[in-house]
Amino acid sequence: MQLLVTVILTLWVSSARGQVNPCEFPEIKHGLLYREDKYRSYFPAPIKQWFYYSCDENYVTPTEDFWHYVTCTQDGWTPEVPCRKHCDMPVFENATAIITGKPFRPDDTLDYQCLDGYENRDGSKKGSMVCGEDGWSHLPTCFKSADKCGPPPAISNGDITSVTLKVYYPWSTVKYQCQAYYQIQGPKYVTCSYGKWSEVPRCIDPCVLSEKIMKEKNIQLNGKYDKTYFIKSGNSIDFKCKSGRKAVTSVESFQALCLEGKMEYPTCK
Ligand SMILES: *[C@@H]1O[C@H](CO)[C@@H](O)[C@H](O)[C@H]1NC(C)=O
Repeated sequence: MQLLVTVILTLWVSSARGQVNPCEFPEIKHGLLYREDKYRSYFPAPIKQWFYYSCDENYVTPTEDFWHYVTCTQDGWTPEVPCRKHCDMPVFENATAIITGKPFRPDDTLDYQCLDGYENRDGSKKGSMVCGEDGWSHLPTCFKSADKCGPPPAISNGDITSVTLKVYYPWSTVKYQCQAYYQIQGPKYVTCSYGKWSEVPRCIDPCVLSEKIMKEKNIQLNGKYDKTYFIKSGNSIDFKCKSGRKAVTSVESFQALCLEGKMEYPTCK
């Protein structure tokens, strides 16, 4: 019985001791503890102990001041967010604020409306910003409705790498790709600007290897090509004479270059 009491007492004392100085040195995000170097040895601090601190430029204390104090409590330092970004009246572009006239406090909202002929990305004309720890949650991004683009142009033997949408916002970009063996020529990335898509690429035809021509010209593929029937424009392919045959064309041209679907075959006799 006595042992149990001792154990309980010990536990109680040690847990109570843990509570005496519960606050480690406070790291003030976007601010500084007053005379931090002098006070550094004071930690962990006991409950109710408080220290002055200041906030960096453009950051304010919960009372909208530059100076305040953090106090040690059972649950740590309070205020929990000592410095938060000051929310100024933003400069609006393409939108106007629906003004209340009050200075902005933490968690206040500011509603705005896009100008006539402008809209948000979701097609709405109104929005709401929140003054958070890091300042405004976002700024209005209203753009001219006329600057939207429709679906990007279709190209032959190629397509875009993303799902086609009905509407694209200004400065949206899509990527084009060509079907297998087609060579892309021109810009892969295409951008919507002022209601128009920039120049689109072209897909250049590959060469189709013809067994018939190879037979007529007494040639075969030189080297290991596994079932290559298509050659991309700009690539070449090696031929050689069939055994017992002699080259008629010059040796260099036994490496045939495919250009836009056309290729000169060498000849053997
Ligand atoms: C204002 O609108 C123009 C035209 O749509 C656009 O280029 C610009 O990025 C817009 N500004 C903002 C902040 O959204």
